[in-house]
Amino acid sequence: MYLVKKPNRNDLCWCGSGKKYKRCHMEEDKKLYAFEEQGFIIPPLNIIKTSEQIEGIRKSGSITNEILNIVGERIKVGVTTNEIDNWVSEYTIKSGGIAAPLNYYGFPKSVCTSINNVICHGIPEDRVLKNGDIINVDVSTIFNGYYSDASRMFIVGEASENAVKLVDAAKEALYIGINEVKPYGDLNAVGIAIENYCNKLGYSVVRDLGGHGVGLKFHEEPHVDHFAKSGKGVLLLPGMVFTIEPMINEGSYKCITLEDDWTVVTKDGLLSAQWEHTIVVTESGVEILV
Ligand code: MF3
Ligand code: CO
Repeated sequence: MYLVKKPNRNDLCWCGSGKKYKRCHMEEDKKLYAFEEQGFIIPPLNIIKTSEQIEGIRKSGSITNEILNIVGERIKVGVTTNEIDNWVSEYTIKSGGIAAPLNYYGFPKSVCTSINNVICHGIPEDRVLKNGDIINVDVSTIFNGYYSDASRMFIVGEASENAVKLVDAAKEALYIGINEVKPYGDLNAVGIAIENYCNKLGYSVVRDLGGHGVGLKFHEEPHVDHFAKSGKGVLLLPGMVFTIEPMINEGSYKCITLEDDWTVVTKDGLLSAQWEHTIVVTESGVEILV
């Protein structure tokens, strides 16, 4: 439900409690209507997670985190992306979880592996990792019904100075974005901070894909842009859980989706890097769930 029209005091409350609005949600909502008057977009309130749900997402996240650790320990020159897919699949199943990507709108594997000029959604295959490749491994787990989503970059062997710089900048961009998250803050601040930082380094930020609410489904509201937009954006409320996952390009931000309908690559063929966390807005700031 969206807070678009302010109910009258004596109307039944929008939440379905059967109580009059003035006896139910009116006091709580007053604060939100004041933000709405300032131009903020009030998110649908049903995306706000209970502490029990947040705990569920955190547990799911600990599996995702462990999988990324395993990938980090094993990845090296000569490994294929199919092998990475097998590691992810095996550990997920062993943990009692489900790999969220598998069969998601027809995605054929358990993890996304995106090498060099691939921005995201690369499909594991027989491709052998070679010295100097940079690769994003994006792991999403469902555990006990709760979704978590995180990704890291890995450098295979020794990469060029340019590649290492891009990988480091993408990680820094993620933390700079996370730093902007606070209760009753503006989601737009995340993209502004990330784009400012990246542009200063001469990098561009992908515009066609963004972060997303996550937790009870793989992709929920809000959509999270990593670039700067003018005006007020979505109001950040305690209990909102979403990803921040900036994709940073060496050259142009422009993307192309390949024939497989998944793999997104840079239009100019230059490198792209991405790191991702799932975070929760808390009463006092932000917490990384995975
Ligand atoms: N994990 C990706 C994200 O960060 C989504 C992948 S969808 C898939 O949002 F189907 F390709 F797995
Ligand atoms: Co994501």
